[in-house]
Amino acid sequence: AIDPEFETSRDVVEQHEGHDVWGPVEEPETLGIHGTHVAVDFDICLADGACLEDCPVDVFEWVDTPDHPESEIKADPAHEDQCIDCMLCVDVCPVDAIDVDPG
Ligand code: SF4
Ligand code: F3S
Ligand code: ZN
Repeated sequence: AIDPEFETSRDVVEQHEGHDVWGPVEEPETLGIHGTHVAVDFDICLADGACLEDCPVDVFEWVDTPDHPESEIKADPAHEDQCIDCMLCVDVCPVDAIDVDPG
């Protein structure tokens, strides 16, 4: 599961589509955590898709991650600023790849 303490255990190493990426990043097999308020551990996400289907405000968009060992697409929190803290994505992700920090 995603480390809920990632903001202290990791460092921001780059930006992607306007959000932070928390390292380490070593493409293509290590991709880090995308987002901060809505954070997705790309190294755990296996492209189940429940988060994209269930988010009421369409926070997530697919991004291509060729040659990543878990999956070749990931749910990117492209619109994390629109999150309404419903926590649905956290509940439905089968591998607990998502952390949402209300408030
Ligand atoms: Fe979408 Fe709710 Fe998850 Fe926020 S907590 S990203 S609104 S499903
Ligand atoms: Fe990935 Fe979990 Fe969404 S596996 S696509 S973050 S439901
Ligand atoms: Zn991203």
